[in-house]
Amino acid sequence: PAAVIADVDTGMDDALALVFLARDPRIDLLAVTCVAGNTDVDQVVRNTLDVLHAAGAGSVPVARGAERPLLNEPRNAHAFHGANGLGGLELPRSPHSPAAMAAVELLHRTVEDSPVPVTLLALGPLTNVALFLRAYPATARKLGRIVFMGGSAGIGNATSHAEFNAWHDPEALAMVIHSGIPTVMYGLDVFVQATLEPAQYLPLARSNDDDVRLVGDILTVGGLRGGGTDPKPVTIGDAGAACLVAVPQTVELLRYPVRVELSGHSRGQTLVDRRLQPGESEHHGDAGPVPVIEVALGLDHPLMVQAFL
Ligand code: BDR
Ligand code: CA
Repeated sequence: PAAVIADVDTGMDDALALVFLARDPRIDLLAVTCVAGNTDVDQVVRNTLDVLHAAGAGSVPVARGAERPLLNEPRNAHAFHGANGLGGLELPRSPHSPAAMAAVELLHRTVEDSPVPVTLLALGPLTNVALFLRAYPATARKLGRIVFMGGSAGIGNATSHAEFNAWHDPEALAMVIHSGIPTVMYGLDVFVQATLEPAQYLPLARSNDDDVRLVGDILTVGGLRGGGTDPKPVTIGDAGAACLVAVPQTVELLRYPVRVELSGHSRGQTLVDRRLQPGESEHHGDAGPVPVIEVALGLDHPLMVQAFL
């Protein structure tokens, strides 16, 4: 299985990803670090512990991380994820506590202790990852790769052009992209396409298994969003990035130069330069070399659905 540390801002779709990571035999979930994003970091820790507990993975170490982005004031996505970050769903409390160390320390220790290269799967703003890169650069270079949900080659969601995680902490994302560590971007382009039909998720909400029911409940809240009684197809969100770690064929990855806008109206926008042919990497922008990373733009939808279910 793939050795994984997840960095999360749980978050309804982070919760879907955590259940998947906890339960999928192709994943070895080593640790989880929490960052402010969808809701404040203490609520993220609470939600993360409770979701892991529901998934039978309460003993996976969880650490509290950054309570605000590197430069911005903290913002949240309560309008989308509800005041508790979980769409108002109340979970049984986990008996576990967070680790007695900060997120960067848990990242450091876990990567150093792992006998195999670790995939760092970042599903929230990149603040913790950026702090880890600066605090422990030699350890960070031992990572197998960073897979992050964030950015977009097209439209945004937080603003017209910026995706939420990128917009929340653009400097942190820029640090990740410039790190030289192999990096995969799972952006909005594929994020919104990885949908389940009501016929696929409604039965999950009637399961006898706590974790499957939790997944079904979250997807049902998402499918009924916007009013009305007709459930709609709903994306599995961050869980799609977790699926790509477990089953690489779920997405098509191409190497493109990517830069992050840091100022003005487009702050937080990711500029994916798709003029190059796949594999070409000798691109130099006006402000020096632009880092080349792998970008997921094509989705094998049936395989993604199969991997998740
Ligand atoms: C991302 O922002 C958050 O609201 C979701 O959890 C996801 O990580 C989507 O833009
Ligand atoms: Ca998230």
